[in-house]
Amino acid sequence: METPAAQPKKIVYSGIQPSGTLTIGNYIGALRNFNRFPDDEYQCLYSVVDMHAITVRQDAAALRKRCLDLAAIYIAAGLDPKKNIIYCQSHVSGHAELAWILNCFTYMGELNRMTQFKDKSAKHADNINAGLFTYPVLMAADILLFNTSVVPIGADQKQHLELARDIAQRFNGIYGDVFTVPEGKFGKVGTRVMSLQEPTRKMSKSDPEDTYIALLDPPDVIRRKIKRAVTDSDAEIRFDPANKPGVSNLLSIIAALTDTTVEEAAAELAGQGYGKLKERVTDVVISTLEPLQAEHKRLMADKGYVQGILDENAEIANHMATRMLRKVQRKVGFADRGRK
Ligand code: TRP
Repeated sequence: METPAAQPKKIVYSGIQPSGTLTIGNYIGALRNFNRFPDDEYQCLYSVVDMHAITVRQDAAALRKRCLDLAAIYIAAGLDPKKNIIYCQSHVSGHAELAWILNCFTYMGELNRMTQFKDKSAKHADNINAGLFTYPVLMAADILLFNTSVVPIGADQKQHLELARDIAQRFNGIYGDVFTVPEGKFGKVGTRVMSLQEPTRKMSKSDPEDTYIALLDPPDVIRRKIKRAVTDSDAEIRFDPANKPGVSNLLSIIAALTDTTVEEAAAELAGQGYGKLKERVTDVVISTLEPLQAEHKRLMADKGYVQGILDENAEIANHMATRMLRKVQRKVGFADRGRK
């Protein structure tokens, strides 16, 4: 006989936008930390947040393709699709429904302060749509819909997570303990991977090609990009982001991918030239990405399998989401649905 679980599992929730090439920054800041939750204690949900993606214009066919692609990347990165609920946000209508309700519990002033909104509206000045503005509310809905306890996430999303917590607490203050107030979990080192060419700026897939390493870059491309990465002229391998941003960035990539500290990474290379540093980064990056890329390729040769995972999980996520949604709808006073 199976022993009954003593306690319900804690929920872990995160999502990535299928809006372009994923970089090693996405991998280090978020993806890599997704499979660190033992499954006897945690139930993890990882979504492909296609609804968030359309806050900037997308080509429909390309977006549709990238949704499947991202699901395959989740699996290729080591997330067991039997244990983790990998699904597409748009397949679960509860996200939009809860987002609407939460919109009514979020202040314009709060959203106005969001730095990502400011950045994105500067970047897309011709399309500052309301979705871009309320983006963090949809994200709060994603998280709160599942009673999430832990959100593994990149440091750039900290402000959004704080807002989700504020909304949850505000709602609970009015209606009683409806939502679990989620905690963010940010990686220890290297959560901010910087551009290879301008190491004082975050690595971003919307910058020119040679500034970032894409998750699916072939080894020779990775080698070339790292070779050309900007360093400095004093030739000392030392972690000092203020004075040596390029070298420090490379050290943090090593530290993050080998689970060591930046000091250890620096000590290991002390006295050597930048050529050696770059060789080490290249080796570490390629050996991390090669198995992921091979698995991704294998999965994409069997799209039906990946689609099947998304279909199955959409059903499970829908079921979980509906339970929460009904509770919230009742709290705010929406009409009864009668009994069926
Ligand atoms: N906004 C996140 C990002 O761009 C993606 C995201 C959407 C997310 N909903 C989420 C992350 C819920 C964690 C939890 O990185």
